[in-house]
Amino acid sequence: MILVTGGAGYIGSHACIELLNAGEDVVVLDNFCNSNPASLDRVQEICGKPLVVVEGDIREQAAVEKLIIEHGCTAVLHFAGLKSVQDSVARPLEYYDYNVIGSHRLLRAMENTGVKKLIFSSSATVYGKPQFLPYTEDHPLNAINPYGRTKLTIEDMLRDQYVGDPTWSIGILRYFNPVGAHESGLIGEDPRGVPNNLVPFVAQVAIGRRDRLNVWGNDYDTPDGTGVRDYIHVMDLAAGHVSALKLLDTPRCFAVNLGTGAGSSVLEVVRAFEAASGKHIPYDVKPRRPGDIDAYYAATDYALRLMGWKATRTIEMMCSDHWRWQSSNPNGYG
Ligand code: NAD
Ligand code: UD1
Repeated sequence: MILVTGGAGYIGSHACIELLNAGEDVVVLDNFCNSNPASLDRVQEICGKPLVVVEGDIREQAAVEKLIIEHGCTAVLHFAGLKSVQDSVARPLEYYDYNVIGSHRLLRAMENTGVKKLIFSSSATVYGKPQFLPYTEDHPLNAINPYGRTKLTIEDMLRDQYVGDPTWSIGILRYFNPVGAHESGLIGEDPRGVPNNLVPFVAQVAIGRRDRLNVWGNDYDTPDGTGVRDYIHVMDLAAGHVSALKLLDTPRCFAVNLGTGAGSSVLEVVRAFEAASGKHIPYDVKPRRPGDIDAYYAATDYALRLMGWKATRTIEMMCSDHWRWQSSNPNGYG
């Protein structure tokens, strides 16, 4: 039985599909602070298989220990946490609480119950300003905002834990920019309030929930002047977790990028989304967003060598799958 923390969220729900399809049994622990339990009903509908859903908080160590024992969990996929950079600047203590203290309590619960296999959701944000591109896994780590620092602190805690007890097996996955949705259109990203991220915002313009996109700067050092990112289809990302999980039978601690290795600019994404949706996306060019970087993308050879995994879906597929979800669920899970 695999414990999936934050499994009702955007990436966790897609990972549950891949886990169930790989024949794993799954128990999700989620407090639904940024998700809707309906996502997990849909996961079960897609897979034609049940999973166990427990409403609870990773910071409740005793309850997590009880859950692990009751369900006979042998490994943990840890998605639960808060993820907005902007919000983390305004509410840093919340981010240290949910992310760092939450992960610490979860690790303690695992230690106390003898579960030593963990996959952790990290982020390319731990690399900070690029000293070279593509980011290889040995690029210096230098998070530049509170959210990123919580991710880096957790990574450090995990590396320290492995040194202290090398019978653990820990996979740190550094996601690039996850977008898209399961091809059924039944589950997808359902941001609360105004989306900060590009593709959810573009999707809401296409469906008519927002008037126009703001393009944050067109004077970057990139081919068309707009920011370049490594967008990765969330189902490719989900598959990466199943590949990583297979490595945990041997004690080890590794950090690996999950990206495509290719960058797309804001305007390329807008054009791909227009083609996928058949909708015009009006936009205005606005000043740069503070803290943004010109361009970054992943080195992908280590993921291939280590796990035999690589992303296969194109930006066109990401946009058409995102659009299928958005257009059939204009208000998300409602
Ligand atoms: P999400 O907000 O959709 O999912 C997180 C889930 O965790 C939600 O269901 C939320 O209710 C739950 N949760 C939060 N705090 C909890 C707690 N204390 N106890 C129990 N459940 C809790 O986010 P996501 O996009 O699916 O991201 C998943 C993970 O991947 C996060 O750790 C995030 O930092 C990381 N990540 C995300 C991105 C991205 O762009 N989405 C990029 C890099 C890394
Ligand atoms: C942001 C986070 C990063 C996180 C990632 C998850 C910041 C500084 N970084 O990255 O830590 O891991 O989300 O996906 O917030 N853009 C617009 N208009 C918009 C929204 C975005 O032009 O309305 C541009 C941005 O300037 C950027 C690109 O689109 O060039 C991508 O932005 P976004 O989706 O927010 O992702 P990141 O900034 O890469």
